[in-house]
Amino acid sequence: MGFIESMKEKAVAYGNRLVLPEGTEPRTVEAARKILDAKIASEVTLLGEAGKVAATARSAGVSLDGITVIDPATSDLLRDFAETYCERRKAKGMTMEQALVDMAGILRFGAMMVAKGLADSMVAGAENTTGDVLRAGLTVIGTAPGSKTASSCFVMQTKESSWGVGGLMIFSDCAVIPTPSAEQLADIACSAAKSCREFIGADPVVAMLSFSTKGSGGKDENVLRVQEAVRLLSERKPDFVFDGELQADAALVPSVTQKKAPGSPVTGKVNTLVFPDLGSGNIGYKLVQRLAGAQAFGPFLQGFAKPISDLSRGCSVDDIVITAAVTLVQAGKK
Ligand code: ACO
Repeated sequence: MGFIESMKEKAVAYGNRLVLPEGTEPRTVEAARKILDAKIASEVTLLGEAGKVAATARSAGVSLDGITVIDPATSDLLRDFAETYCERRKAKGMTMEQALVDMAGILRFGAMMVAKGLADSMVAGAENTTGDVLRAGLTVIGTAPGSKTASSCFVMQTKESSWGVGGLMIFSDCAVIPTPSAEQLADIACSAAKSCREFIGADPVVAMLSFSTKGSGGKDENVLRVQEAVRLLSERKPDFVFDGELQADAALVPSVTQKKAPGSPVTGKVNTLVFPDLGSGNIGYKLVQRLAGAQAFGPFLQGFAKPISDLSRGCSVDDIVITAAVTLVQAGKK
């Protein structure tokens, strides 16, 4: 079974609840209908002014039957949400007046529904920027216990089934942190390992990538940063196998690993690649996608205390459905 089918099947089995904040965006409304009809979510909530959501649905030819519509600005939940938000952001000088304004916005309201357990996952970004979706998640939901870093991953499905697990691999971080510190890289590795378990269903075997293998690149600060991340990971004693710093070939090709990093615990088993920065991660996944004809699913956000996902503004209705399925799977089985 392919990645998409397995995520949809799992999402149906988990029966989690979804909030789609962009309720006046036509592709989102169409996706809401498909998600509910396919039982990918047990409940779907759209946010926005009721009249405008209804008008969007009408012109998209979609029935809103069974879909909940909430207008953040007039919702009974607004005051409680604003109080929680104000308390959470108190150290940043947040006032109740500003909290009421912020919480009346669809992205923060949707994130607060997830934070408070009124929904299990949120998907947005069909008309809002990545930065705005991420900021709503960061200021309302925050990062998972034990991690200070929100990041992202792609699930890559390569044509050659010998890579990763039947051709499936995790690439991280390809979309969020331009230049991660060593500590952030260690966090990214832990989150990517979790994503490997959730999305591929395999024990993670993580390679911390660099242009250097075990010191071959000298004392360049980018090499030192990855080496420090590996040291921090070792201190954390995570429950997955990892090694670094490794060049991509040393990570992936056992004969090269033997030469450059003999005895590496990841030899021939790598299913999760952690890139040293956003430049290499973003370029890397696109090269594999375009030159090797691999399928790239994502970016999926990881490291948040509760699952949210960002969409590309060019997304299709099916992209929203798939992203929703994945994000609902991230919420786990209740
Ligand atoms: N993890 C945890 N916390 C974070 C992170 C992170 N990755 N980034 C920011 N924060 C925190 C900040 O410390 C801040 O906390 P505070 O308000 O409690 O002090 C809070 O989140 C809000 O941060 P801002 O300062 O408002 O946001 P910032 O300017 O740091 O931007 C953002 C953060 C939005 C995540 C930025 O890094 C970004 O836009 N990244 C996306 C890069 C991009 O454009 N990707 C798309 C191209 S790639 C693709 O699409 C495949």
